[in-house]
Amino acid sequence: MTRITVVNGPNLNLLGSREPQIYGSMTMAQLEEMMHAHAATRGVTLQWVQSNHEGELVDLIQSLPKLADGAIINLGAYTHTSLALRDALLAAPIPFVEVHLSNLYKREAERQRSLTADLAIGIIAGLGTQGYQLALDGLLQNLKRDR
Ligand code: DQA
Repeated sequence: MTRITVVNGPNLNLLGSREPQIYGSMTMAQLEEMMHAHAATRGVTLQWVQSNHEGELVDLIQSLPKLADGAIINLGAYTHTSLALRDALLAAPIPFVEVHLSNLYKREAERQRSLTADLAIGIIAGLGTQGYQLALDGLLQNLKRDR
């Protein structure tokens, strides 16, 4: 069975209550449940991770190639700042789709640069929680193609 890990970075644990006008009203628990249901329809094993800590995310990314065939990654604000997480993705490469709930290009200039996007298969931004489902489908297509 294909194994996919979803990696969520800082503050995404507060989805639902955090700036709902930007990130929507679905909670992280609801998003996780939605994704487990979606993964089940695709015959995929999904592992869900969230951390507010950069070092913990480095450790996790380093272990991803052993844990999973592919990943869906939303590093939150670390997307724009963390060379350490970019380095981890370079050191332990895994096919991944980068997801952002909000459309980064409608937002502050600092959010319009991703330090990881060029390492991704593709990027989905601005489609809210549906972006996670689309990312899974796109990732699976891509993994199938490369098999
Ligand atoms: C985010 C966008 C980031 O700029 C922000 O810091 C987040 C969430 C998104 O999903 O839209 O925490 O990654």
